[in-house]
Amino acid sequence: RPFSYPDRRAALHVEGVSLEALARRHGTPLYVYSADHIAQRFDLFARAFAPVSHLICFAVKANSALAILQLLEKRGAGFDIVSGGELERVLAVNKKAAERVVFSGVGKTAPEMDLALRSGILLFHVESEGELELLAERASKLRKRAAVSLRVNPDVFAETHPYISTGLREHKFGIEMARARKVYRAVARHKYLEARGVSVHIGSQIRMAEPFGAAAERVAALIGQLRKDGHGIRFLDAGGGLGIEYQAGLEDASFDPAERVQQYAAALLHAVATVPEITLLLEPGRFLVAQAGALVTRVLYRKQNGAKHFVIVDAAMNDLIRPALYQAHHEVVPVLPRRGARSMVADIVGPVCETGDFFARDRAMAAVREGELLAILDAGAYGMSLSSNYNSRVRPAEVLVSGKRARLIRRRETINDLLAPEKF
Ligand code: LLP
Repeated sequence: RPFSYPDRRAALHVEGVSLEALARRHGTPLYVYSADHIAQRFDLFARAFAPVSHLICFAVKANSALAILQLLEKRGAGFDIVSGGELERVLAVNKKAAERVVFSGVGKTAPEMDLALRSGILLFHVESEGELELLAERASKLRKRAAVSLRVNPDVFAETHPYISTGLREHKFGIEMARARKVYRAVARHKYLEARGVSVHIGSQIRMAEPFGAAAERVAALIGQLRKDGHGIRFLDAGGGLGIEYQAGLEDASFDPAERVQQYAAALLHAVATVPEITLLLEPGRFLVAQAGALVTRVLYRKQNGAKHFVIVDAAMNDLIRPALYQAHHEVVPVLPRRGARSMVADIVGPVCETGDFFARDRAMAAVREGELLAILDAGAYGMSLSSNYNSRVRPAEVLVSGKRARLIRRRETINDLLAPEKF
């Protein structure tokens, strides 16, 4: 992680910048990200897949900040989008990046398809026959060819939270492998559709390489068949989903991201080796950005109800919903560590009126004081991008740090931002 205490008395830093200084300057709650860390993670991926023709399409949903998309775009990343809004973000960064965009999602609408067709994206990942029909209709209407890849459902189980597991037949995602050949025949019949790829995505926060390898092998075998059937398949999209270790503390070095990417790449490269002349597409989100980010928050109050201790902070579930939604674990560390502080066990909770509004439960930690700053770690993925205005709370500001330079990449919302669309 890019977060560390430079010495025993110093505040927690992200790269060369103190989180205390950032909180003073921009207020809390505040998202901070390390640009260099994101670049390093991207390069780690790029090196691991260098042996084959490939394109790394960052999953925009993980973190859709324009400045972060721009940083990745400059390094040559493509993008995995799931809505017209995400495509607009990519186009805002660079119109030409459209040719590196793949469009996923089970519910694409006609206007979204039209925007994608006009911008000339690389691939549509089609997830149903109904969607295929609509895409054919829009493409012929606009006289634009659509490159199609079917997202197949490989029926592979991967150990993760049930809400973010997607590769089993009972999930809403993809088309059954057994039906795929028939659907590709339908693709081939349309003048404005071209069968170009096969894609798969088995879920998120998967920490083992094996299920990725198993899914890719099934897809590789299908590509062999499809080519025999006469389809010009050029892309195998292995989806995203590589997980990180949320449980590891700041000083814990047991998680080696380079090693994890190596194992992941080895499993995929093994599968792809059986398919000549293929470009491998990857859709990592979390692995590139999660550990680059932290949510900095200030302790408002401490209170005790019966035997339970509560630390009430100024960030809430609307800013970072992962603990509430998936009982996700996030490490929480003090920005200014106090030597000799007694330890305590407490729930760290936000001001929102929901029992689910917590960041940690029964967490052992050094006793905190009212007014002090805490950093919620590994918040760079599915943090700000999943935030809301629940309880009419304005969303946090975001700061991107590179070396000793900190740049405000999104100002804190104001109440006017919230009220503007309304009438009465
Ligand atoms: N590709 C597709 C088609 C996806 O659906 C996803 C994530 C990704 C790529 C990127 O997956 P990643 O590499 O980030 O695991 N909100 C949840 C995660 C939801 C993931 C949804 N799909 C969380 O906070 O854990």
